[in-house]
Amino acid sequence: MNTNDIIIRKAENCDLEPVQTLLSTYFLDMDGVDIGDFIVAKSGGRVLGCAAVIDQKYPELHSIAVHPNHRSRGIGALLVKHICANAPDRWEYLYVRTAAPDFFERVGFLKLQDHEKTTLWADCAGCDKFEGCRQSAMRLCLK
Ligand SMILES: CC(C)(COP(=O)(O)OP(=O)(O)OC[C@H]1O[C@@H](n2cnc3c(N)ncnc32)[C@H](O)[C@@H]1OP(=O)(O)O)[C@@H](O)C(=O)NCCC(=O)NCCS
Repeated sequence: MNTNDIIIRKAENCDLEPVQTLLSTYFLDMDGVDIGDFIVAKSGGRVLGCAAVIDQKYPELHSIAVHPNHRSRGIGALLVKHICANAPDRWEYLYVRTAAPDFFERVGFLKLQDHEKTTLWADCAGCDKFEGCRQSAMRLCLK
């Protein structure tokens, strides 16, 4: 893995379009998240990866994606590491709801029981697709 060329920084307005394009590759959208809440992984001026945290009741990692030609280089792990390194003191855990649990286990997240989703997130509690949901809830201890 060589990530020497990768710079991780807070997203700026000029990153909006490339971030939207990257997310659309995986049928993801910004889901109401402001571009200012994203970080980007850049190389040679190109956005190769992005991730955001929604800091509501519990901080939740959202919209993490790496360009298809640059996956498995460690960029996803760098994005998570950057978020953890810059986490505010009050964050005890970082949460994620994901269909890619293997990646998150690899970077230190642990799976939660399905029923915990309903106590953590109101949209899970009220979701009529809850029984068939394939998203794992996971969390990473930051302390
Ligand atoms: C998940 C993702 C962000 C990881 O980024 P990455 O830069 O490839 O991750 P890293 O290089 O740090 O780690 C790669 C490892 O993570 C695991 N991994 C990554 N994506 C995975 C997936 N979809 N399913 C299972 N394991 C996965 C593998 O163990 C992989 O190791 P390998 O290459 O030796 O098989 C990237 O694969 C991606 O953009 N996926 C599509 C979008 C997505 O599913 N986002 C998650 C939304 S919650």
